[in-house]
Amino acid sequence: YVIGVDLGTSAVKILLVNQNGVVTQEVSKEYPLFQEKTGYSEQNPDDWVNQTVAGLSDLLKDFTGDPADIEGISFSGQMHGLVLLDELGAPLRNAILWNDTRTTAECQDIYDTVGEKRLLELTKNPALEGFTLPKILWVKKHEPELFTKAKTFVLPKDYVRLKLTGKIHMDYSDAAGTLLLNVSEKAWSKEICNLFELSTDFCPPLVGSHEEVGTLLSEVAERTGLSEHTRVFAGGADNACGAIGSGILEEGRTLASIGTSGVVLSYESSDEKDFQGTVHYFNHGAPNAFYTMGVTLAAGYSLSWFKDVFAPEESFSNLLAGVETVPPGANGLLFTPYLVGERTPHVDSTIRASFIGMDGSHERKDFARAVLEGITFSLHESVEIFRNHGKTIDTVVSIGGGAKNEAWLQMQADIFNAKIVKLASEQGPGMGAAMLAAYGCGWFESMTECADQFLKVDKEYVPNEANVEKYQELFKLYQTVYTQTQELNK
Ligand code: XUL
Repeated sequence: YVIGVDLGTSAVKILLVNQNGVVTQEVSKEYPLFQEKTGYSEQNPDDWVNQTVAGLSDLLKDFTGDPADIEGISFSGQMHGLVLLDELGAPLRNAILWNDTRTTAECQDIYDTVGEKRLLELTKNPALEGFTLPKILWVKKHEPELFTKAKTFVLPKDYVRLKLTGKIHMDYSDAAGTLLLNVSEKAWSKEICNLFELSTDFCPPLVGSHEEVGTLLSEVAERTGLSEHTRVFAGGADNACGAIGSGILEEGRTLASIGTSGVVLSYESSDEKDFQGTVHYFNHGAPNAFYTMGVTLAAGYSLSWFKDVFAPEESFSNLLAGVETVPPGANGLLFTPYLVGERTPHVDSTIRASFIGMDGSHERKDFARAVLEGITFSLHESVEIFRNHGKTIDTVVSIGGGAKNEAWLQMQADIFNAKIVKLASEQGPGMGAAMLAAYGCGWFESMTECADQFLKVDKEYVPNEANVEKYQELFKLYQTVYTQTQELNK
């Protein structure tokens, strides 16, 4: 067996996976999100550790085999979150997360200091509020005293791994989202570190996602019931692990993933394409590969917001019951999912969401369908960027929330105008983490061989021509809403 730990924004999900790639046990533990002010989004790093340890311990309680048969463990983590550590490895403050947008001024500062063109050359990415360097600069400016105690920083899953093994590392796929990594050279950028007066030992040692980084501390083995000999592998960014866990391991493969955020992600065998910073360009979790990706900040979050406000007592399946009976276009209702601003394509932290076209006859299921359509339109913006840069997107693997509902899967086929593939396990990131451990343990010669063994197609959804046409018209309308509502939020 191997274990894949997926440290998400709302919960940690832990999967136990056997040698055939079958998930034999699954545990999920939630933790709170602190949104003290508009644009702020923080979590307590020790909540992640405690819930991961509690989850592992629950998993082991129900495990009937010998813990020594669990050979390896690896991690997938929410990206970009800043965990500042003192010299003893203790967090100096709450982590500032990927969806925190307080750092608009720091992004400008990065452009002024590094230059937009140079930043893109070095990091292959633009300065976005969600990335880690702007958060470091924010703390430096607003909490200078605390910052003087900062010895180093890590990303969320690295902190959990540190507390499980006592060893500090960051893998390339996650480091790529900090704006401090030279993505092509797979090394910390001395130039950027120097410009912001960060010593290079402020940045932790880099490793590959499949590399072994240690074993469990004995007290962790004791608390969880795992063997002390369980091999620990570095793991990767949740999107990189999502890519591995859905077989996005060669050119032409693309996925749409809906968690709290939503992404459309495509494999790149080299760092040589030029998307002019319109999409993120990061190191893959598979060795020596890359991926490009567009991000919708509030994807699953839009749906959970809708449920919390309008149907807090109900399950998601009740909330979505009947959406398949509402025609494409939700009877004239249009939703834009900009609840916390938007990344791709607008890069605008101030824009806010909207329902447009409400009619006295609309029922809750019309609203529910409009929310699903709005999230999918936002993801389609990324699909269109890829196509406009010459990529062929004819098949998309759907994972996460979007793969849990038949009507939503068909909607993705109709809006993206591409075949949608649903895998037997749509556990993307957690499965990807487990696959990194399986590969690291030497079960397979390559990640692709592991994917062939572990991942099976469950069902495919082909575009319905009439719906495709209808959605193409609606998408044009959807795109105009951003410019029309922009002023409302200034
Ligand atoms: C990617 C991003 C999000 C988080 C979600 O750039 O910010 O997808 O990784 O966990």
